[in-house]
Amino acid sequence: MILRKTLSSLVLMLLYGCHLHMAKTVMNGGDLEAALPEPRAYIPDSQNLDFVYHDHEELTRFLRATSARYPNLTALYSIGKSTQGRDLWVMVVSSSPYEHMVGKPDVKYVGNIHGNEPVGREMLLHLIQYFVSSYTTDQYVKWLLDNTRIHILPTMNPDGYAVSKEGTCDGGQGRYNARGFDLNRNFPDYFKQNNKRGQPETDAVKDWISKIQFVLSGSLHGGALVASYPYDNTPNSRICRSSALCAMFQTYSAAPSLTPDDDVFKHLSLVYARNHAKMSRGVACKSATPAFENGITNGAAWYPLTGGMQDYNYVWYGCMEITLEISCCKYPPAYELKKYWEDNQLSLIKFLAEAHRGVQGFVFDPAGMPIERASLKVKGRDVGFQTTKYGEFWRILLPGYYKVEVFAEGYAPREVEFVIVEQHPTLLNVTLQPSKRIEGIGAGGPSYYRPIPAPQHYRPVPPYVASASNDNGIFSTISNGLNSLYSNIFG
Ligand SMILES: *[C@@H]1O[C@H](CO)[C@@H](O)[C@H](O)[C@H]1NC(C)=O
Ligand SMILES: *[C@@H]1O[C@H](CO)[C@@H](O)[C@H](O)[C@H]1NC(C)=O
Ligand SMILES: [Zn+2]
Repeated sequence: MILRKTLSSLVLMLLYGCHLHMAKTVMNGGDLEAALPEPRAYIPDSQNLDFVYHDHEELTRFLRATSARYPNLTALYSIGKSTQGRDLWVMVVSSSPYEHMVGKPDVKYVGNIHGNEPVGREMLLHLIQYFVSSYTTDQYVKWLLDNTRIHILPTMNPDGYAVSKEGTCDGGQGRYNARGFDLNRNFPDYFKQNNKRGQPETDAVKDWISKIQFVLSGSLHGGALVASYPYDNTPNSRICRSSALCAMFQTYSAAPSLTPDDDVFKHLSLVYARNHAKMSRGVACKSATPAFENGITNGAAWYPLTGGMQDYNYVWYGCMEITLEISCCKYPPAYELKKYWEDNQLSLIKFLAEAHRGVQGFVFDPAGMPIERASLKVKGRDVGFQTTKYGEFWRILLPGYYKVEVFAEGYAPREVEFVIVEQHPTLLNVTLQPSKRIEGIGAGGPSYYRPIPAPQHYRPVPPYVASASNDNGIFSTISNGLNSLYSNIFG
């Protein structure tokens, strides 16, 4: 390991010499992963958690008991309440549960955004139980928890779950929140105006992800077996709110809507699919549903939707979220849960470890103080991201040669080159020099960064605003009218 690291540092210096300002690969948590044995199989402890469905009270009791039993590994918090007043519990699992570890990534899983798709909800409870019960005995789990803060929201839609029926494989009963909103159509959208009124569950999640900078995320669903990645929506207007509707119009294999990080999203999706017992085989759930090559798909290529959570995570906060459809049947009988766990265990763990791939570092001022909300953009990848209050940033990237543009209000922009290798993340510290104020240079700063109004968090300007400064143009009125018509029928 040490030899390889020395060699790769040497190669970096030879290749990029003085251009590689302050970039240095260092020994840190990420190095260890390759040398670790695979995570062990989980031996369920039925005293703590059985393979049955847990209603909201049982779920709450399990989370409370676990956080009491493992105070050094877990912290329980609520990000808000559902429409009917149920807590939206998040369990942090980490060797530093109460405090962000400076320089180390925070990641998350969200389950049960559709109330009638509860396999993910139960998988996340078992994932918590697996982590806390394996920390002292499993090197891989210890490495992951020592170097990552894992936030787990087992149910984003507890009200929908409360009215769902075990054994119901299809349909919409329980999919929506208590006011009938599809929460995965309730986020601000990058491509189209979304007029849906923000729901308490969605608002809580938006607030949550504005406060913690998540590097990587998975949202768990049921009804298919595939890992689906952004974008879910497309600039090419085509109304298609559900797979049922698309099937009706026979528009499967619609045009993909690819992000500039498509290589990374494909990779992340493949990590999940290939570590899963079946997903990467790409077998169709039913003869009438699509088969996905290698068990992955671009979201819009499957069916476009407006207001989805994964596009929002990525575009607004630079968090790489993918959608994991983990069961053909939305709400299978409880006796199948153990099998679902066996199929998903390795995927759930290995996916999170991907947060340790790519570049990470800090942006400092000349005095060595962190610069908060510096904007960064990897050249050629036009979706930006920002530093935390500690000046930290992360970006998952595959091996290769990259340039990052760094910009902060009051500082001269910089471009820094770096290299990503397979074996460990690249650590990159960037120091910005204060800029001399020049009158009349344009208020918004360099045009390649989206303007950031001072006190607000990073909000990109969606294309629909850019192309038609008035959102209430005739086009958006018509398409919104159609959207609500279709969503009333199909959801
Ligand atoms: C980058 O900055 C961090 C935080 O101050 C520090 O721990 C680390 O050693 C620095 N790395 C390099 C390569 O300068
Ligand atoms: C938690 O960590 C502290 C300090 O390392 C230790 O003294 C204590 O025994 C630990 N508690 C549990 C329940 O493991
Ligand atoms: Zn779903």
